[in-house]
Amino acid sequence: MEALDAIEHDVDASFLPVQSDPELRAVYARWLGREGAVTLLMRRMPELPGPERKTFGQAINRVKDKVEAAKTVCEQRLREHARALDLGREPLDVSLPGRKPRVGRLHPLSRMMYDVIDAFVAMGFDVAEGPETDWETNNFERLGFPPDHPAMDMQDTFFLQQPDGATGPRALLRTHTSTVQVREMLSHAPPVMIVAPGAVYRRDDDATHSPMFAQIEGLVVDQGIALSHLRGTLDTFARKLFGERVTTRMRGSYFPFTEPSVELDASCALCGGSDPSCRMCKGSGWLEVGGAGMVHPTVLKNCGVDPEKYTGFAFGLGIDRLAMIRYQIPEISLLYQNDVRFLESL
Ligand code: PHE
Repeated sequence: MEALDAIEHDVDASFLPVQSDPELRAVYARWLGREGAVTLLMRRMPELPGPERKTFGQAINRVKDKVEAAKTVCEQRLREHARALDLGREPLDVSLPGRKPRVGRLHPLSRMMYDVIDAFVAMGFDVAEGPETDWETNNFERLGFPPDHPAMDMQDTFFLQQPDGATGPRALLRTHTSTVQVREMLSHAPPVMIVAPGAVYRRDDDATHSPMFAQIEGLVVDQGIALSHLRGTLDTFARKLFGERVTTRMRGSYFPFTEPSVELDASCALCGGSDPSCRMCKGSGWLEVGGAGMVHPTVLKNCGVDPEKYTGFAFGLGIDRLAMIRYQIPEISLLYQNDVRFLESL
């Protein structure tokens, strides 16, 4: 009993210096391990006579409970300590700063094209497409170009090489999107209301001309279509795209496939007509953006539409001209040089 009293006295203090799980296990084993002090005393119980054995057994159990309780308190203390250490430590940030990809965007000409299409679609136009290589019949003949028209000359048009001995219509890179007028009327009965965007090709290559450029064609054919509809459509379009600061005008002109024909001008977005030495409009105050007119009756007839019953208007706009106005770019060649410093400034 004395030995047990001594143990009971020491139990609590024995756990106090414990700082780790192995230390905890060692202290616990000192009391209740296989060779622990309490265990050894327990083994000697059979030596005692009955009544004393009972009292001693109870005392032993009390001490065992005390050891277990001290162990639990110690475990708790170790856990709290570990957690406090963890929280107090400098946080570890395993993330790297992100690497930001350089985000590309559409070329101003593409953006312009999409916005132009959107503006016409909002007015009820359908979008039609045609191939960039087409027959000369669709590009010239059906549009009323006389057989010897200079536009067909090798200087102006890229003709595709014919197979040896081939006869019949020649293939070419379309010189304008007006080919889609023909294709549309041949394949659809009126009413027709389409825009046809796309690339066109001409044999020009200088500061103000690129051999490939983009146009958007418009065609409306129905009963009772008049020039006033054309005027209203183009005006609405220009205001939608450029706001009130740009106005438009029509000038009489000539195309083989329209009668009457007009040239569509937009007011100069750079100087508004106030600068006689303006680089953009050359001082005229106006920029030509395209051609238009009432579809020539012969063209209607060539494309299977009855000119007695139907009339129509058509227009062809240069996307690069529209982009010059929108971005106030004085020189068209800037749009084709692909200098990123310039493109990023738009
Ligand atoms: N196709 C003409 C051109 O490229 C433009 C145009 C289209 C004119 C439709 C009138 C009607 O110059």
